[in-house]
Amino acid sequence: MNQLSKETIDEIRQLADVYKNANERMMEVLLKMQRLTNNCFDRETLGIVSDAMGIPESKLYDYITFYSRFSTEGRGKYIIRMCKSAPCHVCGAREVAQSICDYLEVEPGDTTDDGLFTVEFCECIGLCESSPSVMINDEIYSNLTPNKIKGILDCYQKGVRV
Ligand code: FES
Repeated sequence: MNQLSKETIDEIRQLADVYKNANERMMEVLLKMQRLTNNCFDRETLGIVSDAMGIPESKLYDYITFYSRFSTEGRGKYIIRMCKSAPCHVCGAREVAQSICDYLEVEPGDTTDDGLFTVEFCECIGLCESSPSVMINDEIYSNLTPNKIKGILDCYQKGVRV
């Protein structure tokens, strides 16, 4: 469960003002809020966001549970998203996915014990031309190999900018 600090709640309110002035930016605003809330809109967080944005909690819940980029359950600091669709598989995505899971010692859907990474498989993420690709939060890494992705994950673990 999130225990949001006063500073985080203030940041959520500032982001809510962006939405109030431009409703079409709802997705962008919620993604930024999610970064502030341990990548999770739990019950408490939903209530705070609902109040700040002026959106009924039930409507917000429907929106968040519709899109795979949002979660109502605790996840890691970094969300690794990898396409599991056939076009990517034939380009080597399966080997890259296996490399990620082996390196982090997790199964798809799991979060590492240190809370740093959650590995998620999803449908097409629009990066077919440069497959195998993954998204780590909002960053895109393309033309991956099993070794290349291990190097990238190592940098994240060390806090080094890739
Ligand atoms: S089919 Fe995999 S990114 Fe599009």
